[in-house]
Amino acid sequence: MKIERAGAEVFDRQDPLSGFSGRFLPLDRGAVYLDGHSLGRPTARALARVSQLIGIDWSGDLVRAWDHWADLPFEVGDRIGALLGARPGEVVVGDSTSVQLYKVVCGVVRAAGIADPVLAVAADEFPTDRYVVQGIADAVGGRVATFEVASGEGVDPERLDTFLETTGATTAVLAAVDFRSGARTDVRACNEVAARRGTTIVWDLSHAAGVVPVALGSDGVEAAVGCTYKYLHGGPGSPAFAYVRSDRQQAWRQPIWGWWGQRDRFAQRDRFAQRDRFAMGADYAPDDRMRQYAVGTPPVVQLALVDEGVAVVEAAGIDAIDQKRSLLTGFALDLIEDRLDWLGARIETPRESGRRGGHVCFTHSEASRLCLAARDRGVVTDVRPPDGLRLGLAPLTTSFVDVWDAIDVFTRLLASGAHLGHPLDGGRVT
Ligand SMILES: Cc1ncc(COP(=O)(O)O)c(C=O)c1O
Repeated sequence: MKIERAGAEVFDRQDPLSGFSGRFLPLDRGAVYLDGHSLGRPTARALARVSQLIGIDWSGDLVRAWDHWADLPFEVGDRIGALLGARPGEVVVGDSTSVQLYKVVCGVVRAAGIADPVLAVAADEFPTDRYVVQGIADAVGGRVATFEVASGEGVDPERLDTFLETTGATTAVLAAVDFRSGARTDVRACNEVAARRGTTIVWDLSHAAGVVPVALGSDGVEAAVGCTYKYLHGGPGSPAFAYVRSDRQQAWRQPIWGWWGQRDRFAQRDRFAQRDRFAMGADYAPDDRMRQYAVGTPPVVQLALVDEGVAVVEAAGIDAIDQKRSLLTGFALDLIEDRLDWLGARIETPRESGRRGGHVCFTHSEASRLCLAARDRGVVTDVRPPDGLRLGLAPLTTSFVDVWDAIDVFTRLLASGAHLGHPLDGGRVT
């Protein structure tokens, strides 16, 4: 079946979210941004917000502005929590995903009170997740057990069950959406298995938050982390979120003792109240709610940008975003099959919509040269070694015509061999 550009134009006309691209800063004319997905596009409100924050709040109110800045990690956390099916007071924003993961996993491992704990992580998991797990095992005298996940598939709950039974892992770190193939894992099914084995899964939601429905509460998630710079449009280096279910917050003590996590002598039922920060007490006593994960001074400017990104996601609604994600990724897979299969591209992403996230991936022996040559022609995608080319299809900023144009550029490059002359420059495919 031949898919024409006019067909993509029809899909764009029928797209209820097409107007949302106007809520983001425009791209250069002719540019197609399908990074896969390391960095979402900036919201149009980002500039005004930063200008207000610096020009009015900071320069006008100076240090007094902390009266309203101090709550941002919890306010933005609650809004991200609402998008992910958490309750108020279960999510806080600050630090990088790596650091949040360290804090959460340490909390789980230490609470288990096992002398030589086994920490499980998927063998092909995003590098920082594996390194953090290795680092914690090293720090606590534990051992890492790696779990194999079939290429292009999510975690198989039955195989996970056998693995947990064999290893007796205290905790497992798994991604809800695989960073390479885009395969989605059945979070609820894995949690059910883990609960039977007495294991806590700490979920990495970096490639899921803001693009697929996540139901932290009803899917039995005890702990999760995720970044905000992908589908939540928080910008480069924006802080990550950590989620710990309410009934675990008191028992799971994170290891970094900081003044923003200190218990408040005057604590009220209002979880934002922390009037005691400047009491400068001699010893640390952790807050027994999510506040203990705040640790130190929050990155206010980036939090404000996350706030703006989350606002656009809220306005669109996660169900509408998911519907468009399904159509866009399906359209991309059809096009890849139709136009790139005979040129050597092999699809890595599951065909079933519910089993994939917001990006698609195909492998090709010349993926890096292809990606770089396409960038020279205005089409931004990325490569994950050794040969996976990813296209990130952020539903609020990507059109069907973008997808068609990108695949058209790939088709022309592969058919002509024009990409083969492109010098390899590893740094540029990030
Ligand atoms: C699945 C996953 N986890 C973690 C990270 C990055 O963590 P950090 O925010 O610490 O750089 C990424 C970055 O792309 C990711 O894709």
